[in-house]
Amino acid sequence: MNRPAVEGLRVNAPAHVKHHRLIAWVAEIAALTEAAEVCWCDGSQEEYDRLCAQLVAAGTMRRLNPQLRPNSYLASSDPSDVARVEDRTFICSERPQDAGPTNNWMAPAEMRAILQTGTADGTPGLFRGSMRGRTLYVVPFSMGPLGSHISHIGVELTDSAYVAISMRVMTRMGRPVLDLLGEDGAFVPCVHSCGAPLERGQKDVAWPCNKTKYIVHYPETREIWSYGSGYGGNALLGKKCFALRIASTMGRDQGWLAEHMLILGVTSPQGRKYHVAAAFPSACGKTNFSMMVPPEGYPGWKVTTIGDDIAWIKPGADGRLHAINPEAGYFGVAPGTNYKTNPNCMDSLKRDVVFTNVALTDDGDVWWEGMTDTPPAHLIDWRGLDWTPALAKETGAKAAHPNARFTVASTNNPVLDPEWDSTTGVAIDAFIFGGRRSTTVPLVTEARNWSEGVYMAATMGSETTAAAAGQQGVVRRDPFAMLPFCGYNMAEHFQHWLDMGSKLRAAGARLPRIYCVNWFRKGADGKFVWPGYGENMRVLEWMIGRLEGRAGGDENVFGISPRYDDLQWNGLAFTREQFASVIGIDRAAWKQELVLHAELFKQLEYHLPVELPATMARIEERLGA
Ligand code: GTP
Ligand code: SPV
Ligand code: MN
Repeated sequence: MNRPAVEGLRVNAPAHVKHHRLIAWVAEIAALTEAAEVCWCDGSQEEYDRLCAQLVAAGTMRRLNPQLRPNSYLASSDPSDVARVEDRTFICSERPQDAGPTNNWMAPAEMRAILQTGTADGTPGLFRGSMRGRTLYVVPFSMGPLGSHISHIGVELTDSAYVAISMRVMTRMGRPVLDLLGEDGAFVPCVHSCGAPLERGQKDVAWPCNKTKYIVHYPETREIWSYGSGYGGNALLGKKCFALRIASTMGRDQGWLAEHMLILGVTSPQGRKYHVAAAFPSACGKTNFSMMVPPEGYPGWKVTTIGDDIAWIKPGADGRLHAINPEAGYFGVAPGTNYKTNPNCMDSLKRDVVFTNVALTDDGDVWWEGMTDTPPAHLIDWRGLDWTPALAKETGAKAAHPNARFTVASTNNPVLDPEWDSTTGVAIDAFIFGGRRSTTVPLVTEARNWSEGVYMAATMGSETTAAAAGQQGVVRRDPFAMLPFCGYNMAEHFQHWLDMGSKLRAAGARLPRIYCVNWFRKGADGKFVWPGYGENMRVLEWMIGRLEGRAGGDENVFGISPRYDDLQWNGLAFTREQFASVIGIDRAAWKQELVLHAELFKQLEYHLPVELPATMARIEERLGA
């Protein structure tokens, strides 16, 4: 017997678990949280079905009409627990400057007192007894293909069955991961509790959570502790917490990148294939871009999805940057998704889906704003209340929450790239950075070189969305679309990108080109001018034309943008005037914009790479000229 028998029995460890540290840690957390029992997830279909049935019995989920939406569920969260909570998200490095001014920081010892050991005034740690009356699920998962040199393993301990089933869809989860871990493999420990212990005889609620929330990262010891929320990025700890916040610090130390990026393959009619990684902030179009259907006028072009949210990017043996999608599923925004703008996504959602906070139709299917032009005559809204179009007109009540989401396996995607599961990843030809800006930022600009590209990414701004709790539609700087996700000092992230560029260049590698895009400029009527979605193919094709050295463009103050005739307009009525209104640079607006860049640089002054203010000075010079 090669495991601590007593401890293993105490936490109900299956005989195949040989990892001493893992068993000891599970025992420690079970003791701290006073969990009623421990369940080791194997990741099987049988286990998934059983937990789903349990969630249905508990009222957390409802089974959808199996004729209309086979093997699918609707989960309804507590109305207070619907999005990431950025103001409750902490980076607990020893020194505040290592978290940097864009993160909430607390000293690790202080945070451990709040969460685990209890504070000096006698308040017990929040996790003490937090799983009383509940099952602790042990969820072993791999971010990235099992055994890839780019992948990493985590184990999440959670008191939420909803989290356990979601992790099975979103990651490679279960027994094979335990086998890979063996007796002493490395894993990132992730502890999650809804913070709603059940006392004896107490009736459970459909969506346990706590109004006190802490989403906590210890980057130096690579640990994650999440308390009080059962929703999305707060609770599925493999995603933003591990694959972005912890992984970004691992990448900085080890010479790779963890980014909030989709990864797509695009194949030309001649059969040439390129790979593009694109960073847009939350709810700004990554899922849509990664599944795009090229429009009429693009016969023979094909876009295939490698990932829709996160990319781990590492220099390969060929010196080029190779990317994998660490995830195995999509946790995507439902509202706005429909057959016209994203048919591949709609087809992915035909079966085997967990929807959260969408509306329920009278025949047991789902609906959300934007799914169809005409809404159904009656719905049960995401809070469980009757909803009609008339009521919506009167009160503005939404049928689906604006951050309602679907959870579905990548393998449901009809345009999943054949390389999506490749252990070596795909070689990246171009990076795109894009925000949601109703003014100022042009449709597309190519950076003239790596450091101008890093400047574009670093200074990116975007209007806030429903993906995070708080005010919506306000422009904020969102460097690299990583503002809520960088686990270390953002200025050092800029330096890391510059260093990666220098290293690759020194090794003689061809660097990916860098582009900045904006699909969201609005006209005087308040409507988007650019049609977006599949029509974004026209911009993507221009980028490929640039890579192949055949597409033209014009130098503007901060890069190169296409002229009207540099884009292909087959099948789209889009006038020169409309184009001018999405590509133009308004000098006055850009002078204002540069003030915001300067403010960001002031905030990030500590360890800010000198290249960035130097690049800004050159842009100012060109603007003034
Ligand atoms: P996260 O999962 O939060 O990281 O979001 P995401 O970047 O994957 O965003 P997603 O593709 O889910 O899009 C979010 C919203 O933006 C949806 O309501 C889309 O309909 C809308 N959207 C996506 N692409 C476009 C576009 O090209 N033009 C316009 N106008 N809207 C778009
Ligand atoms: C985002 O907010 O960028 C998401 C959704 O992708 S969540 O997983 O909740 O972070
Ligand atoms: Mn995201």
